[in-house]
Amino acid sequence: MPDDLLHYRSQFPILDRTTYLISNSLGAMPRGVYDAMHDYAETWATRGVRAWEERWWMLAAQVGDEIGALMNAPKSSVSTHQNVTTCQAVIASCFDFSGERTKVVYSDMNFPSVMYFWEAQQSRGARVHMVKTDDGITVPTQRLLDAIDEHTLLVPISHVIFRSAFINDAQAIIDKAHRVGALVVLDTFQSLGTVPVDVQALNVDFACGGVLKWLCGGPGVAYLHIRPDLGKTLVPSLTGWTAHENPFAFEIGPNRYAEPPYRFMNGTPHVPALEACRPGLKIISEVGVDRIREKSKRQTARLIELADQHGWRVNTPRDPEQRGGTVSIEMPDSSAVCRELLNRDILVDYRPKAGVRMSPHFYNTDEELETAINAVEEILKERQLAAR
Ligand SMILES: Cc1ncc(COP(=O)(O)O)c(C=O)c1O
Repeated sequence: MPDDLLHYRSQFPILDRTTYLISNSLGAMPRGVYDAMHDYAETWATRGVRAWEERWWMLAAQVGDEIGALMNAPKSSVSTHQNVTTCQAVIASCFDFSGERTKVVYSDMNFPSVMYFWEAQQSRGARVHMVKTDDGITVPTQRLLDAIDEHTLLVPISHVIFRSAFINDAQAIIDKAHRVGALVVLDTFQSLGTVPVDVQALNVDFACGGVLKWLCGGPGVAYLHIRPDLGKTLVPSLTGWTAHENPFAFEIGPNRYAEPPYRFMNGTPHVPALEACRPGLKIISEVGVDRIREKSKRQTARLIELADQHGWRVNTPRDPEQRGGTVSIEMPDSSAVCRELLNRDILVDYRPKAGVRMSPHFYNTDEELETAINAVEEILKERQLAAR
């Protein structure tokens, strides 16, 4: 069957040199980033300080809207930050963790940085309730729902689990949280760009993620969508002059907050990263996440089939509706096998309790899946021979 999406391959230089199956970690760089970086340098070199009012100051909100369009977020509801951990900090800074509602409920399958952040909020009065996985692949949804109660303030939860690609039932979690007056922080880092996300349909309170994986946007840009009605009333204490209603008046005294999205930003924006991420966002928007998802379901199913043929353990859900863009495969000596795959220009990664993660994106061919699996087979044979 012809694969229309393959004509985008020429826009990603690294695909000529490697078998690139690592978009769950760092998406391939679009060729357009060379020009974007050159234009950035040219603007700085020729416009100097005038660049702030001509382009750079507005960029943070503009890129927020470009990311927002991919998840059906209303205009001006998405602020940009350096990373997801900072997004959590901005959210936490809107609450004081006093009174009856101090519980923070999440799963131990969340990305660790997010958990480290919330663990640390216990010194501010937060009470963490962590629901444990039974199988290292899925999140026990009912147990998570049961833990969300009238004392719960926030539920920071990954949409797609980084280790296993399990898709959490975001709608059920949001509905339960809202029934008891809690708010959900959905980490869409491992979903947006490969699994459809519609923040308005979900009616999610906060959604955050970064652009460097499935959005091919490079490091340094994270996004934070806040439901518009909440965005009007929340007051972040992690703040700064970017969030001021009149930053260039350099007023002294009580803060006067700007409207969202600037309301949730703080200091000088990360302009080079904002410029670098735009070519990736443009391509993802042109390709369309629905088409990416269809292909991803087919290619991840193929990887599971190949792993099964070799008798390797698959640490990823088999139901395509419960599976994001990654297949985690555990074979003997997974960590060493991963290192050898990298030596052979087959780019994947290894994570403890997951195995080798392989993540095809819209630009990957079916042959590349076979190449990676055949290489694993060959490496294991070589290691067996060497051990004799
Ligand atoms: C689900 C998820 N959340 C967050 C992160 C990273 O967080 P930060 O942007 O703070 O580095 C990752 C991976 O890098 C991830 O997979």
